[in-house]
Amino acid sequence: MNKVVLITGASRGIGYALAKKMLSKGFYVIGASRNGKIEGFENDTFYSLKLDLSNTSSIEKAHDEIKEKFNHIDVLINNAGIGPDLDTPRPDLKSFRETFEINVTGTVFFTEPLIDLISENGKIVNVSSKMGALDICERTDSVAYRMSKSALNMFTKILANRLKNKIKVASIHPGWVKTTIAKDNIVNGRITTEESAKRIFNFVNTNFTSGVFWDVEAQTNLPW
Ligand SMILES: NC(=O)c1ccc[n+]([C@@H]2O[C@H](COP(=O)([O-])OP(=O)(O)OC[C@H]3O[C@@H](n4cnc5c(N)ncnc54)[C@H](OP(=O)(O)O)[C@@H]3O)[C@@H](O)[C@H]2O)c1
Repeated sequence: MNKVVLITGASRGIGYALAKKMLSKGFYVIGASRNGKIEGFENDTFYSLKLDLSNTSSIEKAHDEIKEKFNHIDVLINNAGIGPDLDTPRPDLKSFRETFEINVTGTVFFTEPLIDLISENGKIVNVSSKMGALDICERTDSVAYRMSKSALNMFTKILANRLKNKIKVASIHPGWVKTTIAKDNIVNGRITTEESAKRIFNFVNTNFTSGVFWDVEAQTNLPW
């Protein structure tokens, strides 16, 4: 039987490449996006889920739909994320609120009710960023984005503690990837979405230690 992976933010960027990769490796993929339609997945092992993490009723509807259609999930990959203040020197209230709404609040309240559906020995992988690592931060830009990823990392730690010996939980840094998340990325990103997806896939399929923060580009643990 195919293992079931739920990937948020599967419409483009890293999430899209990861959905393709996981499908090609025999997973049943539930791919979430805001409009619920993702081009290029004609497989009968792909299910398109409508999910807006900034909207409570959309999150609740997605939960109902998942519980109605699936009796378990093997892997949850919280990939959806935004960075409207990336590379800006100071935070502004609008982008700060949006960033936390999606990267933190939406991700936490989407995840919590799904935990009971995740199989014993299942996995939760939160797509974080090196930019949220407190111990190595020497910069002053991208306040909301950095803080949101530090908060997401704390969620990883809390879940790893709570779900010890049941479900493995990790944060990952996907690398500096050529996506449209920020202007700089397409030009200067070091790796393609396909390369990042391949490395994320490899990590997900290892018997990783729960509660780690893993850099898939450098293939090493990151400090929190
Ligand atoms: N690119 C990098 O170098 C890099 C580095 C470190 C970490 N990351 C992290 O990697 C993850 C993926 O980033 P990416 O570069 O692939 O970004 P991206 O190309 O901009 O894709 C973002 C994804 O998030 C989804 N999303 C945005 N707002 C949403 C909402 N309100 N509700 C649900 N989904 C929403 C988008 O779906 P829609 O199509 O519905 O908008 C899209 O699929 C993010 O968490 C990001 O912080 C990226």
